[in-house]
Amino acid sequence: MEMSKKNLAVIGYGGQGGWHCQHALTSDVVNLKGIYDIKPERNELARSRGIHAYGSLQELLSDPTIDLVTIATPNDTHLELVLAAFRAGKHVLCEKPAEMTVEAVQKMMDAANRAHKLFTVHQNRRFDVDYLAMRKILRDGCIGEPLRIESRVHGSRGIPSDWRGTREHGGGMILDWGVHLIDQILQLIPDKVRSVYCRVTHYTNEEVDDGFRIELEFESGVTAHIEIGTLNFIPMPRFYLQCRNGTAIIQDWRQKAQVVRCKFWHENDVLPVQTAAGITKTMAPRDEVTTDTFEIEKPESDVHDFYRNYVAAIDGKETQLVTHEQILRVMRVMTASFESAKTGLPVFFEGGL
Ligand SMILES: NC(=O)c1ccc[n+]([C@@H]2O[C@H](COP(=O)([O-])OP(=O)(O)OC[C@H]3O[C@@H](n4cnc5c(N)ncnc54)[C@H](O)[C@@H]3O)[C@@H](O)[C@H]2O)c1
Repeated sequence: MEMSKKNLAVIGYGGQGGWHCQHALTSDVVNLKGIYDIKPERNELARSRGIHAYGSLQELLSDPTIDLVTIATPNDTHLELVLAAFRAGKHVLCEKPAEMTVEAVQKMMDAANRAHKLFTVHQNRRFDVDYLAMRKILRDGCIGEPLRIESRVHGSRGIPSDWRGTREHGGGMILDWGVHLIDQILQLIPDKVRSVYCRVTHYTNEEVDDGFRIELEFESGVTAHIEIGTLNFIPMPRFYLQCRNGTAIIQDWRQKAQVVRCKFWHENDVLPVQTAAGITKTMAPRDEVTTDTFEIEKPESDVHDFYRNYVAAIDGKETQLVTHEQILRVMRVMTASFESAKTGLPVFFEGGL
């Protein structure tokens, strides 16, 4: 599709700001005009890489040639920067999580509406191929209606020792990784959430959660388990999906989805399995007479489609991929998770979320 290129500036030139710049430098939809970081040494680093660094935030925001601003700073700084960018009349892409409360996210959206500018949040993990493979299985319906889905990411290095380990700057794994995994599950299961139950861990960090387990129940009865661990030397599978007619698994994000589909429910002669202390027919594995086993090819994915959609949405040619409603819904699930973790009780949404 023919699109006019938009001029982009990136605020925050750390790990993720660098990632945005790298993608923007080879983009077919944006020109990178420059960056601004609060730390002089980061601005110097950008200059040494041939990227223009503005002298101040104000200088960046008052550059009339800039159409859109990407905000890639620590989580506690997003609100102020997003509001300033809207006041300056820019479109805004904010890194995830947009903010830490529903009220703050609502303020960002109100400012976007007042300025008649586009606001979205970088849910780039909608382009992860493991997620896309799960989406394909669910959309194709090849193993029937979903009953339960489990989504996990396990690491073994604890929580990063930077601002992510502090409450003040919006650290913790619910805000860091939960925001992605919750968004993915809400995309995969098109149903209202009835309840949220959450437990968090503090194995390596007292101040913020260094891992969590969230259990979502949807109105249809489908359940979802979302889990992050940072002290797991043997990771559990990335995705596990149980459907009426089969099961799918993705061991890790480098691997294809494996699917076992049931051909015949009834078996005539089940061979009992001998375990050390007894026999079982109930738990005996199935064979190829009653099941099909196959793999799903990894779907094609280009994460820069996020920017392509963003620019097309600004031009009114597409609807924005990550909508205000979706951003708020993810924030509400995170808020309910914090509350549940504190009380030890599930949070119920009357009428569904
Ligand atoms: N979507 C993703 O895949 C992904 C991945 C990593 C990080 N992120 C998000 O990106 C954001 C930044 O994370 P990071 O890993 O790049 O952190 P980082 O610490 O590597 O970089 C943050 C940068 O922002 C600068 N900064 C701080 N306050 C500022 C201000 N007021 N104005 C200008 N610059 C300021 C810091 O000096 C630093 O260089 C966070 O919101 C994080 O959650 C998203």
